Amino acid sequence: MSNRKTILVTGAAGYIGSHICVELLAENSKKYQVIAIDNLCNSSALAIQRIEKISQGTLPFYAIDICDRSALDRLLKSHHVDAVIHCAGLKVMNESLTQPLRYFENNVVGSANLLQVLASHNIKNFIFSSSASVYGTPSTVPIRESAPCLANNPYSRSKLMVEQLLADIALTDPAWAIGVLRYFNPAGAHDSGLIGELPHQKPTNLIPSIVRVASGQQSALPIFGDDYSTSDGTGVRDYIHVMDVASAHVAALAYIFNDANKDARGFTLNLGTGQGYSVLDIIRTFASACGRAIPYTTEARRPSDTAICYADAWQAARLLGWRAERGLAEMCADHWRWHMKNPSGYTDGDCKRL
Ligand code: NAD
Ligand code: UD1
Repeated sequence: MSNRKTILVTGAAGYIGSHICVELLAENSKKYQVIAIDNLCNSSALAIQRIEKISQGTLPFYAIDICDRSALDRLLKSHHVDAVIHCAGLKVMNESLTQPLRYFENNVVGSANLLQVLASHNIKNFIFSSSASVYGTPSTVPIRESAPCLANNPYSRSKLMVEQLLADIALTDPAWAIGVLRYFNPAGAHDSGLIGELPHQKPTNLIPSIVRVASGQQSALPIFGDDYSTSDGTGVRDYIHVMDVASAHVAALAYIFNDANKDARGFTLNLGTGQGYSVLDIIRTFASACGRAIPYTTEARRPSDTAICYADAWQAARLLGWRAERGLAEMCADHWRWHMKNPSGYTDGDCKRL
């Protein structure tokens, strides 16, 4: 009889969820089978085919909204699940400023719904995609997990509210094993170039914005502020390869399933490299990865932007034995490869050529 664990991944067709599925299904990780759900509000079901292509296997997929409790209940009546990796959510900070109720409903109510259904099926192993933005503007770097959480926009607060709900659940019922992973700045793509982050018409994040310049869709990159107290005056962040983010989830599952940890299975961990890079560092590295110049202009600081933000990555190393392994050059090269192979994201035509 197979003793493989079954992992339900929510938001599985999305950027991070798709890479987590690939890592779970990887050749060297025959420990897991995966069930994928996503409501496809910010993704394509073609991502599931790509995951299957990379993994050379099948990935059962259900187009389910986490806000739909009866659909979740039906799913869990027909599938045994050992643990859940919960990536489904809306993630655009700017959008959350104008649509706070939508972010609350989807991210907070949706997560509460999911947790209720899981509890009713006695599924109590849970890993949550949180964000370093829960820290708000840090007063010191590197940021430790014990730093105050001063989330300062509806998106970040939705992440913090779910973290707080999870803490309350863990307090009331010790059967839960809950891992909260606070991602810093994920970038890059699987090195096959088959899966990656969907291109947006107006990305706000740095690396997708650089891609638009490198591919000629935008004439120059606006650098938001060159007068910060950083080495070159531009903002510093902790960019982490999405495959390293994915491997951290596999390490987190191993920790939760390890009987030796059965009395202390909850954790909140930063997922970063511990290394900060400036906007100019990223521009230079990306330019050399894609072999094209990245023209830029210097603009005013972005409101509420922080100068320097990078993780203290020690706790994840200590607890999970996990460290980010891929560097900035690999991140930029992989991000660019994904873009060149899929300039419009996932399309039917591309999929037929697989
Ligand atoms: P993404 O938008 O690519 O993926 C999220 C997926 O969730 C999408 O496929 C979307 O269709 C799905 N989804 C959204 N609402 C849903 C719902 N109600 N029911 C079912 N599916 C739903 O985003 P991502 O970059 O893969 O982010 C994954 C998670 O990680 C999010 O929760 C995000 O907040 C968090 N996170 C992301 C970043 C980042 O920079 N990408 C940083 C920190 C945290
Ligand atoms: C952003 C989001 C945050 C989200 C995080 C991870 C904002 C204000 N915050 O934070 O909610 O959790 O990404 O996905 O959107 N930059 C430029 N020019 C650009 C784009 C960015 O100079 O066109 C600079 C920024 O000023 C910053 C750095 O690049 O110094 C990184 O920006 P970004 O990728 O948006 O990440 P965060 O600011 O960390």
